[in-house]
Amino acid sequence: VTRHFATHLSSLPPGESAVVDIDGVEILLARVGDNLYAVNNLCSHAEGWLDMGSVYPVTCEVGCPLHEGRFDLRTGRATHEPAVDPIATYGVEISGDDVFIVIGAESHVNASPQ
Ligand code: FES
Repeated sequence: VTRHFATHLSSLPPGESAVVDIDGVEILLARVGDNLYAVNNLCSHAEGWLDMGSVYPVTCEVGCPLHEGRFDLRTGRATHEPAVDPIATYGVEISGDDVFIVIGAESHVNASPQ
């Protein structure tokens, strides 16, 4: 398990997302309400970059800009064709205002104050 600084929580208000490059892998960090999710930024269907698509907060999905594939941000599961294969998900940790992506873990975190 490895932990990588991603961004500051204060720069990621609800509804915002960011792309973080970790060892050459683009990871989409999305804040939906007070929850943070980290998934692979590359669509499993073809070459769509998910940060160029839309986040759907009600269903907690991210949509691909190329062919309307969608993925559940919580699980990485493909929820809309033509996307079929899942995308990787990553863990997220918060320490103060620092947000970390954790490779090798698979949980998201709640960003509301403890
Ligand atoms: S590349 Fe994402 S749906 Fe085709």
